[in-house]
Amino acid sequence: MNIYTDVAGWSVFRDSLGRGAAGSSIGFVPTMGALHAGHLSLVNSSQRDNDITVVSIFVNPTQFNQAADLEHYPRTTAADLAFLQAGNTDAVFMPDAASLYPDAYAFRVSESAFSQRLCGTHRPGHFDGVLTVVMKLFNIIRPTRAYFGEKDYQQLQLVRGMADAFFLPLSIVACPTVREPDGLAMSSRNARLDAQQRAQAPGLFRALQSAGSATQAREALQQLGFDVDYVEDLDGRRLAAVRLGDVRLIDNVAIG
Ligand code: PAJ
Repeated sequence: MNIYTDVAGWSVFRDSLGRGAAGSSIGFVPTMGALHAGHLSLVNSSQRDNDITVVSIFVNPTQFNQAADLEHYPRTTAADLAFLQAGNTDAVFMPDAASLYPDAYAFRVSESAFSQRLCGTHRPGHFDGVLTVVMKLFNIIRPTRAYFGEKDYQQLQLVRGMADAFFLPLSIVACPTVREPDGLAMSSRNARLDAQQRAQAPGLFRALQSAGSATQAREALQQLGFDVDYVEDLDGRRLAAVRLGDVRLIDNVAIG
């Protein structure tokens, strides 16, 4: 497994893979590390579709709208690299913030409609940070296909929208949410739940699935002790964000 920490080193390898029909196909899985089986399912999908799979690990500061959230974000690099190695990943790109943001975030990708709703209402600027870093990573990695989880449904839709709007020469592939046996969507943030919160947390998925409407789901979640940021039905899906203490959980399910 090759590990690249700077853009120039990666680019030499990328150039050696060729371009177009004669080149190798490159599958790309962007992550912020603290890897789990959900991330691995994206890696495995990429491996099925492509000659080469590259994973990026970068805790992107511009998408954190609270300093404490950035500070507490789990960083488990050694374990992540061992996990990817065991999963036969070909390459890992793990740059530092200075090399991804030579402009100190003066230039950014901004979406003005859907990014303002749902999670965007509660996390101002979050999706600008996500779209900007994903655009940078796409331009550096130059993938054939890029893999995103349905767990972060709004992010997936916004990345798709950006790829279409800017005619990016790659395909966005959606991967289903991987869950714990009790239904809780796997997330790097689950590790921050205490025992009681961890026992409560699967109620999120159950309430989204079983309620007859978004309003009923909200009521059920409040009764289960969640602080509800939002529950909304949109285009055949029910999406929600809730908080248990200072841990924020998101999930979504297909409805109807
Ligand atoms: P991160 O939260 O590390 O997630 C990386 C990718 O893994 C995302 O596409 C996310 O949807 C997917 N993923 C996470 N948990 C999953 C689960 N339980 N099942 C399926 N897929 C899951 O999302 C980000 O990082 C960042 O915003 C990023 C896109 C890397 C930009 O910084």
